[in-house]
Amino acid sequence: MSKAIVIYTSKRGSTKQYAEWIAGDLGCTALTLDDAKSQDINLYEYDCIIYGGWIRGSGIVDFDKFAKWLDDELMRRLIVYGVGFADETAENYAQVWGYSIGKIDPKNENRSILYILGGRYDPSNVKGMDKMMMKVMRSVLLSGSTPDAKMQADRIRDRIDNGVDMVQRENISSLVKDARKKL
Ligand SMILES: Cc1cc2nc3c(=O)[nH]c(=O)nc-3n(C[C@H](O)[C@H](O)[C@H](O)COP(=O)(O)O)c2cc1C
Repeated sequence: MSKAIVIYTSKRGSTKQYAEWIAGDLGCTALTLDDAKSQDINLYEYDCIIYGGWIRGSGIVDFDKFAKWLDDELMRRLIVYGVGFADETAENYAQVWGYSIGKIDPKNENRSILYILGGRYDPSNVKGMDKMMMKVMRSVLLSGSTPDAKMQADRIRDRIDNGVDMVQRENISSLVKDARKKL
């Protein structure tokens, strides 16, 4: 019987929430990367492998650690989702892809799939290193040379300052459809 697995890294819950919704729809297990490591999960037992991570500075957190387990065969079974507060514009997608799948398969020969899902950000919950990084990110946000780029930068600045919650169950529907095609 075909099997799927969801492995995730979440700091404040939104990536975890998506992992649980996806696993619920696919009737499979969702577990953290740490648990997957300690349980010595054998990825070859799964026809569809989903990795979800929260986005930090356009990188999908711990994807590099997870990627150490992957070879071409496993990458063909892979769907990655990143969760962030930026909209899924072509520019943002290309950047997140470049820091994740693009790093290990620059020509996308294995056709791993990437989704960017709307996340949650509450400035009052962000402390320490994350707070410092956010301050830097805000200060270097370019205003953009086109009206569209300027609008995006303004939107992100507003989300950094005031928070945002874009977590919605329906955001997973295309990902779940793609996962079912692999099963
Ligand atoms: C330090 C820091 C950097 C972030 N950088 C980005 C980013 O580059 N792009 C983005 O879309 N979201 C970014 N975010 C937003 C988070 O990824 C988003 O809020 C996500 O939903 C958090 O997932 P979690 O609830 O599973 O921890 C950043 C958040 C923090 C705290």
